[in-house]
Amino acid sequence: MNPFDKIKKQVNEDLHHKLPKKWKKIGDILIADFSLINTNHLSHVSQIYANILKVKTVLQKNKVNGELRKPERTDLLFGEDTETEITEYGLKYSMDLSKTMWSPGNTGWRAVLDGPEKVSSFYNFGSPKVIIDYFAGIGYFTIQLAKSYPNAKIISIDKNPDSIKYLKKNLKMNNIDNVYVLNDDCRNITHKADVIHLGYIGNTLDFLEHAHSNLNDKGIAIFHEAYNNNWLGLKRRSDWESIPESFCKLMKENGFITKKFDRVKFYGPSKSHIISFLQKI
Ligand SMILES: C[S@@+](CC[C@H](N)C(=O)[O-])C[C@H]1O[C@@H](n2cnc3c(N)ncnc32)[C@H](O)[C@@H]1O
Repeated sequence: MNPFDKIKKQVNEDLHHKLPKKWKKIGDILIADFSLINTNHLSHVSQIYANILKVKTVLQKNKVNGELRKPERTDLLFGEDTETEITEYGLKYSMDLSKTMWSPGNTGWRAVLDGPEKVSSFYNFGSPKVIIDYFAGIGYFTIQLAKSYPNAKIISIDKNPDSIKYLKKNLKMNNIDNVYVLNDDCRNITHKADVIHLGYIGNTLDFLEHAHSNLNDKGIAIFHEAYNNNWLGLKRRSDWESIPESFCKLMKENGFITKKFDRVKFYGPSKSHIISFLQKI
C-alpha cells in the first residue's frame, strides 16, 4: 500500500478529497498544503501524516517571499522543531525551515562537479583562484564549490543573518576551510573574482552589472533566473538544445557572452528556471 493510501485508511472518508496528495519531505520535516482541512481536524490529520511519513514536524505550505526568500510565516501543524538536517552528495546541511529556504527541485544542480555530465560541465571553471557566491544561503552551492575547488578561495555572501548562522555551522560540519563568509548585500562587495555564482530567481538581472564589475577579465558568471517559455522561444523539447536568441541579446547588452544555457526545472505552467554560463566581454 502506498503512503497516501495508508493515510486515507486512518482518516474519516468525508475528508479524503481534502487531503494533500503531494508533499515535500525536507530532512525529517514535512511541508504540505492542508488549507482545505478544517481547523478542528488539522492536528489529528497532520499527526497521521507525521506517523506514516515518519517525520518529527509538519508545516503548512506557505509562500517563500520577499528579497530574502524567507518563509512568509510558519504554521506548525504537528511537532515543534523546525530545524532539520539533509545529506546530499555526501555533504550535510543544517537549516531552520522557519527562517531559511531549501529548494528540493535544484538537487541535481547543487551537485556541481559531482553531478551528471550536463551539470558538471556548467560548473567546470578550470582552476579559478577566487569564486564569489552572491546568494549563499545556508551553503546550497558554496559547500559543493568549496569541495570541488579546494585550492580556490570562496567568498560567500548572504544578507539574511539566519542563513549566515547556518552557513557557518554547515561549513564546520563538512570540514570546509576555504570559505570566507560575509553577511552583507552582494552589491556592497568590492572583491575581484574569476567566477561569480548568482543562485537567485526573480530579479537576478539587477545584480549582473555589479557582478560584471567584480569579475576579472574574461571572468565567468553562473546565472540562474526564471523566464517565460514564450520569451525564450521554447515551444518543444528539441528547442532546449540551442541558446535562445532573446537571452543571448539581453546578456550581450549586459556585457556577457552566453556560452552555455540549460533548463533546471519547470517554474509554474509557462515559465522555466534556467541556468547559463556567461563570460565577461
Ligand atoms: C533563493 S535563495 C537561494 C536558493 C538556492 N540557490 C537553492 O538552491 O535552494 C536566495 C538567498 O539570497 C539571499 N539574498 C537575497 N538578496 C540578497 C542580496 N542583495 N545580497 C546577498 N544575499 C541576498 C537570501 O537571504 C537567500 O538566502
